[in-house]
Amino acid sequence: MTSVALTGIGELSTQDDELGLLHDAALVVEHGRVAWVGPAAQAPAADTAHDLGGRAVVPGFVDSHSHLVFAGDRAEEFSARMTGTPYSAGGIRTTVAATRAASDEQLAANLARLVDEMRRQGTTTVEVKSGYGLTVHDEARSLALARQVTEETTFLGAHVVAPEYAADPAAYVDLVTGPMLDACAPHARWIDVFCETGAFDEDQARAILHAGRAKGLRGRLHANQLGPGPGVRLACELGLVAVDHCTYLTDADVDALASSGTTATLLPGVEFSTRSPYPDGRRLLDAGVPVAIASDCNPGSCFTSSMPLCLALAVREMGLSPAEALTAATRGGARALGRTDVGHLGVGARADLAVLDAPSYLHLAYRPGVPLVRQTFVGGRLT
Ligand code: NIG
Ligand code: FE
Repeated sequence: MTSVALTGIGELSTQDDELGLLHDAALVVEHGRVAWVGPAAQAPAADTAHDLGGRAVVPGFVDSHSHLVFAGDRAEEFSARMTGTPYSAGGIRTTVAATRAASDEQLAANLARLVDEMRRQGTTTVEVKSGYGLTVHDEARSLALARQVTEETTFLGAHVVAPEYAADPAAYVDLVTGPMLDACAPHARWIDVFCETGAFDEDQARAILHAGRAKGLRGRLHANQLGPGPGVRLACELGLVAVDHCTYLTDADVDALASSGTTATLLPGVEFSTRSPYPDGRRLLDAGVPVAIASDCNPGSCFTSSMPLCLALAVREMGLSPAEALTAATRGGARALGRTDVGHLGVGARADLAVLDAPSYLHLAYRPGVPLVRQTFVGGRLT
């Protein structure tokens, strides 16, 4: 057994007990897990040591919402949006056409590039959705590719109605809940639905989530992104682990979230990139709702892979404190994926961490846009 001591940690946020802030700390890794954490002066001997030079260390970010299997980009659509064209779900079909036309190799290369981009910005766990194939073959191959990079894979055949089924959405729901689900379930842990005007309504979302559950997939939802709607309350009623976007919330939605324990995943990069109003994260936290922050990295509504940017936006625009935002981007993301082994650095956790070129985690929000992540460790290994 080889143990590695990470020493010279100027400030360590373990996220074990709230922020779990330690100064002049050390952390010992064995078998890829945290074996010991505490004041450097008390650190046990280890086989090798790695001096981090007084830098701050945070748990690796847990990005619980992304769409990384696609081809092409939509920079022109972004440009039009910035001069007044509103965002709508319809743009997804542009990426569907490009994705269907791409080879497996092209999709895998784009996916690997984006995961690498995330890693360099401190993300150590990422959820990846399908949803740009919308045929049995293209959804299944999207998930098979996603499985190569993460265990957190989500079947999102119900992203929008496939163009071939525009005149018969009910037949598309039958496809999603039938042959498409059969082909995708072996590659997926989760099932998701875009429950929104222009995508799927409440009854369709309920039917799709039930079908997924019968195949052993756990549900999550895209909801209340483009306007108020039934999605958040449906997620709470079904006891889903997480409901994502939550841009437009009524008092009843907030109450439902507070009493269900469903995590509200905020995606501030989407509001930034679609020039939409930011939801009030403060209101959710004050109501006792568990909150996560994720990137939603995708070519349409938000093409950032940067959790530090999303964290900074949540502080500046959603009313979270820097400490709350760090928690939402680490432990909150883990909760949104039903995970307890990541998102914190307590003894037994996977040794996933980001070393910052900064004296404190506060700099993540204080220095927006600055590449502060110097090193990322996954399972105790420098990546
Ligand atoms: O999470 N809202 C639905 N899906 C993505 C956007 C997809 C796209 O525009 O390509 C989202 O924002
Ligand atoms: Fe999304």
